[in-house]
Order: sequence, then structure tokens, then C-alpha cells
Amino acid sequence: MRILGIETSCDETAFAVVDSRSQVLAEAVYSQVEHAEFGGIVPEIASRQQLRKIIPVFETCQRKYPVTPDTIDGIAVTCGPGLIGSLMVGLNFGKALAYGWNLPLIGVNHLEGHIFANRLAEPALEPPFLTLIVSGGHTLLVKVEDWCRYSILGSTRDDAAGEAFDKVAKLLGLGYPGGHKIDKLAREGDRDFHRFPKSQFKAGEYQFSFSGLKTAVAVYLKDKSAEFRNSHLGDICAAFQERVIEMLVMPTITAARDLDIRTIAVGGGVAANSRLREAFGEQGRLHGLRVIFPEFRYCTDNAAMIAAAGCYRLDRGERATLDLTAVPYLPLV
Ligand code: KG4
Ligand code: ZN
Repeated sequence: MRILGIETSCDETAFAVVDSRSQVLAEAVYSQVEHAEFGGIVPEIASRQQLRKIIPVFETCQRKYPVTPDTIDGIAVTCGPGLIGSLMVGLNFGKALAYGWNLPLIGVNHLEGHIFANRLAEPALEPPFLTLIVSGGHTLLVKVEDWCRYSILGSTRDDAAGEAFDKVAKLLGLGYPGGHKIDKLAREGDRDFHRFPKSQFKAGEYQFSFSGLKTAVAVYLKDKSAEFRNSHLGDICAAFQERVIEMLVMPTITAARDLDIRTIAVGGGVAANSRLREAFGEQGRLHGLRVIFPEFRYCTDNAAMIAAAGCYRLDRGERATLDLTAVPYLPLV
């Protein structure tokens, strides 16, 4: 089975063709750069850019794999969560293709896509496993009981992990999005340069909270000169990042041990963070747990993960009808 995946939930316009063995046969993606000057995503600009890019990006994908009604078996499209305007562009494009080409359509939850990104890395991955979804909009710890059957173990009380990276990057004048910039600067910095506070929860509560840390960074920077900031940029990034990583890794490892689950799969943009990958690797080895990460390009938003999730759902007979709608706050369960 070969599925065309379409992802337009935020500021990426992406297409990919994936087969039932989780092999990516072709992909094309456009990442919007127009938001940088505003320090965050402007929804109206995002949806307009989606409209401008949807056909050119599809054509780029078609040049890599001849997408026709004869070469694919179905169309999987993100139907939420995300920005309504952006979602609508991909969803309607997917519906039109499915209708015109008489192919089955399936709506995919974007968060489920981030979980399936791990299947692209490890086609043999099988539930049960724990998954930590860490993106710009979500921080969720989930038990994957079976494919497409999830229990939420914990989530963030305030900001998402990626949002914390982006807000601190903004405080440091690094521009938007800032996660990968902090990651890079932190490699040259000293993690112990300053001890920012971390949020703590009761035993058995796998919760996350990042807004206190972000405020602590803001307060710390308040009386620091531009010269100090510049000369210690890497140190500040490393000290902040270390706290985020600790707050993500420890509850996840604890949950895995409490529930006696041996495999953890991480997904979402923050899964691209080099220190997160390293820290999970260390803790995994220490506790005898297997920790899986998607390839870098499948951590951030992409269509291959949507195609992979859609392929699984279509394969077991699920179909969406043409009244499928985009749901901005679509929950995972
Ligand atoms: O999954 P994603 O592409 O979009 C959402 O669904 O939100 O995640 C984007 C988020 C942004 O907040 C970005 O700053 C963060 O992922 N991010 C990173 C890194 N690369 C992307 N955060 C930390 N370290 C990175 N290397
Ligand atoms: Zn995402």
C-alpha cells in the first residue's frame, strides 16, 4: 500500500509518499520564513502562504514520485490540531484529490503523526511503549497501548517545551523559531553556569511546566549588560536548556519504570534537540530502557509521519467521508 500524506497544520507545507513498510518514497516540504520578523507565527500569513505553496510543493513531490490515481492507494491529511486556516488548505486539497481521483481519504491527528514518525525510524517498533511528544504547541506523555490506542499520562500545565525554547530565544534576541539556535549555542556553553529553578510535582504525577523557568530566565537577564549577555550567550542557553531537558527526561523515565515499559519513543520538533537525545540515551542505558528518536527531519512537522499514520489506519479499513472537517484543538484521545 502506498499513501500520499499532506501536512499543513502550521507553517510547513509538506507532501510525502510512504508505503506500508514505512519506507518514504518521496517527499517535499516548504517551511515558511515569513514569520521571523514578527517573533512568532502570524496565523493569517501562515494560511496565505499555505495557499500559495500547496500546488508548487505538490508538484515538487510529483517530480520525485509519479503521484497518480494508479500509483497510490489513498490520501492521508492532517485534520488537526493546528491553525484553522492552514489546516483548511491541506484538508481541502486532500479532499479534492481523493474525490477527483476516486481514492480513499483519511484524516490524521497531527500528534499521532509525531508518534508514527518513530515508525519511520524503526519499522519494527511495536506497542506497548511510552511516547513523549514535545513540539511548539504540545508536551504530552502518552502510553501507546496499541497503535491508535493511547492513554495520556501527563501534559504541560502551561507552556509547551518548544514554546519555552522559542520564548527564551526571543528574550536572548535570537529570533523565531529559536529552539535549534539555543541547541547550537548551548553546545559551546557551560550547563552549570547558572542553576535556574525547575518545576517539581508529586511522585506519580508525570506533569510538566515551563513558564516558571521562562520567567526565571527573564528575571535573570533583567540586570545583565548587553556585554555580559553576549559573552555568556552559550552558557545561558546551556543552563536553560539543561533544566528543560531534566524536566522532560526525568518524569518520562520514572513513568517507564513505574509502568514497567521498556521502550520510549520521542517525537515533535524538540526531539531534534541534541542534548535531549544525549540525555535520554544516557538515562536509557542507565535504566535498561530503549529510547527511539525519529530522524531529524521527521522530528519537526513533515508529511511522511502523516502518511505513515494514515497508511496504518487505511490498512485496517478506516475511511473518512468528504464532510471531514479541520479541528484546531483536536485532542489525541
Ligand atoms: O513539531 P514542530 O515542528 O511544530 C509543532 O507541531 O509545534 O515543533 C516546532 C518546535 C519549535 O518550538 C522549535 O523551536 C522547536 O520545535 N525545535 C527545537 C529544536 N528544533 C526545533 N527545540 C529545541 N532544540 C531543537 N534542536
Ligand atoms: Zn508538530
